[in-house]
Amino acid sequence: MEPSQADIQLFIDAVSKQSDYDFSDYSLKSFSRRIEKLMGDHRASVPELIHKMGKDKSFLERLVREITVNTTELFRDPQIWQSIRNMIVPRYQYEDFINIWHAGSSTGQEVYSMLILMHQQNLFEKSHSFATDLNTEVIETARSGLYRYREIDEYIDNYNAATVGLSLPPIDDYLEISRKRSTIKVKPYLVEKPKYKKHDLVSLENPWEHRFHIIFCRNVLIYFNHELQNRIFEMFYDSLYTGGALIIGKHEGILGDISLKFDKYGTIYVKK
Ligand SMILES: C[S@@+](CC[C@H](N)C(=O)[O-])C[C@H]1O[C@@H](n2cnc3c(N)ncnc32)[C@H](O)[C@@H]1O
Repeated sequence: MEPSQADIQLFIDAVSKQSDYDFSDYSLKSFSRRIEKLMGDHRASVPELIHKMGKDKSFLERLVREITVNTTELFRDPQIWQSIRNMIVPRYQYEDFINIWHAGSSTGQEVYSMLILMHQQNLFEKSHSFATDLNTEVIETARSGLYRYREIDEYIDNYNAATVGLSLPPIDDYLEISRKRSTIKVKPYLVEKPKYKKHDLVSLENPWEHRFHIIFCRNVLIYFNHELQNRIFEMFYDSLYTGGALIIGKHEGILGDISLKFDKYGTIYVKK
């Protein structure tokens, strides 16, 4: 059953009272769908969920994990990886180092896709890879670089589409694929590279003592309302070097005054 607006507000207030999480600027529509899912999965009403959260802090953490959407893929949306390779990465190839931040990295597939690409462009050594997410469980999976075998066909299709026309190694050069163990493991030299950290974008803080040449924040902002999106874009703007690129999801966009501070190439925004 769809939760009422009053129930959603009750839930948001209870979470913010009992933790550092603040969902008050999430988009009402998608948040309502996520709460509806929680109610179904736990067979509980919103007041019942709140009651249980109050008694058990780990239950609150669990609900926060369940409320976030963590879907991701290696080379997700392959066309964007062609633009990153042909248009974005060459801008920074003569820099001494290339700082890359994946905000809302989920289980890390986007992070490893970028590192594979940088390896192919002979820029791996110069790349400094940073990744954050709200959800500690997905960060643990990202750190392990261990994924389910059943995802392999999708990853191969994405990779082939992202690298079409190029003579590059097959994707299994970068992965240990075991049908027997039912696993895909990203090779150790890739897994060892990124620094991961728990971080809530709602804090509006850059959690790293760095500025960036490239910031990825794909398929995350879609869950926030426009005011919060714009405040986060401001934070990204401040965190980029001039000429740095912000890459957002294919269903996302930057609106309002902040958009004037970027040159737009599809879903890639380059800081003026
Ligand atoms: C759909 S995944 C996107 C993963 C990857 N960027 C991609 O496009 O494939 C969205 C991620 O955003 C994270 N997220 C949601 N709210 C967040 C917040 N306030 N701060 C940081 N990460 C957040 C979720 O935990 C989830 O892992």
